Amino acid sequence: MPTLLQIESSPRSGSVTSKLAAKYVAAWKRQNPGGVVIQHNTAKEELPYIDEAFIAASYTAPEQRTAEQKTALALSDRLVDELLSADEIVLAVPMWNFGIPASFKSWIDLVARVGRTFQYSKTGVEGLVKAKKTVVVTARGGAYAGDSPYNFLDQQEPYLRTVLGFLGVKDIQFIHAENQSRAPELAAAGLQHAENVLATATA
Ligand SMILES: Cc1cc2nc3c(=O)[nH]c(=O)nc-3n(C[C@H](O)[C@H](O)[C@H](O)COP(=O)(O)O)c2cc1C
Repeated sequence: MPTLLQIESSPRSGSVTSKLAAKYVAAWKRQNPGGVVIQHNTAKEELPYIDEAFIAASYTAPEQRTAEQKTALALSDRLVDELLSADEIVLAVPMWNFGIPASFKSWIDLVARVGRTFQYSKTGVEGLVKAKKTVVVTARGGAYAGDSPYNFLDQQEPYLRTVLGFLGVKDIQFIHAENQSRAPELAAAGLQHAENVLATATA
């Protein structure tokens, strides 16, 4: 059964990224009737930061883990299972302070697991996530994409490309709704642009 993993990370009821992700999911459901959508909102679920017990457990060989260590990894294991089972992924990520929300970073810290989503080999690091296609919808108060003079401030797209690529996700499309904190007509144009790109991506 086709599976879509939908991870949102805005706590806002009027979230632009959540709205765009919902459009993506609706189109995916039309194309995949009977498909399964696994949904999370990292902000609303308040995903925990990883701690010392988690780190020790994740770097202990699975067959040597104590019951406590298995418990420390339980949430992470569930999130990793979801990620590995997904055929497609849609990530809804606001730009916060030029990067990503801390709760979304928590999701990344929980799913970046040695032996499960990446492994070291003689030739280097190998990503183990084989999802076919990943779409990242973002919203920003300003504009950073393309030839914007503020492009160098964008720590969101480069970071996400790096870490998702590290985990093995190769086919990544970013859809940016920019200028969301600017004048209403600029914000509307930024949203319309993102909706147009999204409509093409899901056609
Ligand atoms: C805590 C916080 C930090 C933000 N930092 C930035 C920023 O660094 N650059 C920017 O262009 N917009 C920034 N914004 C504006 C958001 O990116 C914009 O409001 C976006 O629409 C948020 O996504 P959402 O609508 O899905 O919540 C920030 C907003 C908040 C609440």
